[in-house]
Amino acid sequence: MSLIVTNIGELVTNDPEHNVRHDAAVVVDGDRIAWVGPAAQAPAADLRLDADGAAVLPGFVDSHAHLIFAGDRAAEFGARMAGQPYTGGGIRTTVAATRAASDDELRGNARRLVGEALRQGTTTIEIKSGYGLSVPDETRSLRLAAELSAETTYLGAHVVPAEYADRPDDYVELVCGEMLDAAVPYAKWVDVFCERGAFDGDQARAILTAGAKRGLGLRVHANQLGPGPGVRLAVELGAASADHCTHLDDADVDALAGSDTVATLLPGAEFSTRSPYPDARRLLDAGATVALATDCNPGSSYTSSMPFCIALAVREMGLTPTEAVHAATAGGAAALRRTDLGRISPGARADLIVLDAPSHLHLAYRPGVPLIRHVLQHGAPR
Ligand code: NIG
Ligand code: FE
Repeated sequence: MSLIVTNIGELVTNDPEHNVRHDAAVVVDGDRIAWVGPAAQAPAADLRLDADGAAVLPGFVDSHAHLIFAGDRAAEFGARMAGQPYTGGGIRTTVAATRAASDDELRGNARRLVGEALRQGTTTIEIKSGYGLSVPDETRSLRLAAELSAETTYLGAHVVPAEYADRPDDYVELVCGEMLDAAVPYAKWVDVFCERGAFDGDQARAILTAGAKRGLGLRVHANQLGPGPGVRLAVELGAASADHCTHLDDADVDALAGSDTVATLLPGAEFSTRSPYPDARRLLDAGATVALATDCNPGSSYTSSMPFCIALAVREMGLTPTEAVHAATAGGAAALRRTDLGRISPGARADLIVLDAPSHLHLAYRPGVPLIRHVLQHGAPR
């Protein structure tokens, strides 16, 4: 079946030559974009979607989310808003709730969040484990994640669980050994929370290297709560993405700018932990590739909304609306090393959104307003 999207007020393609077009139509064939060009020259198609003068964009690519968990931590959020700092210590609370939950509870919660994200325009979402932290609980987390996304990430190295508190090196050995063996069939990526209080540079290097040997791509939670070795380690090891990037020195910025490692910024986390926002302007001006993602998780960023992250990036991080939309689409695709996502051009996957607005500027201009009118995912209306 083919489908033509007509009457497009503004088309954001992410094609550097023709990023924003005003005369265009899009033809979708099956799950792919087949044709983009002037509406007057559009080929015939079986079905028609009338955009009614609205903006059409690539679906959002949320390259960082922690969706396999049980419970919430609203009380912890409330305490933070009354002045408590965020330390990551609450991760263990979610680990206990997740271990106690049934598969159906975890599956239901993750499905709910994927649906919530889809209604806000997210057509691809990466899903991490990391609230199991035992061999069976990390394995089932990844098995459930793989039911919902092809972009699954093994985060056994989220924190050292309580039962290993006095022997963290034994836990690192488990993460690099038996737990990794069990994770590999369900995981595409390996990630480490490289931070004071979680895993240091040497431990992170051991875990990432072990994952790479088993064929997993690399991602790093880096420089979130303070300066540290995470960003430079990510670049040195050729990670697809260094995520958070909140506390960067000049050498970190230069390393990112001179590499293929994407700087994935997660402003929902700064919002929800009352931390200073990362400087997206500095990264872009230096030549780094920047992605925006939600970090959706019950502790530091309980939002599934890419439009919310776009609005924060524009207001608080120095991006223009056009740059923020690019980071939320093409940037996320680059962070997942996916050339078929985050663009509207022939051959790309037919993931696109029609806004309830004439321009992509409205995503930041009208914050908090539900502006996603239609979503096509793999060419199918959702
Ligand atoms: O990306 N920083 C580490 N992990 C998550 C937070 C997890 C939690 O607080 O439950 C993050 O922000
Ligand atoms: Fe995270």
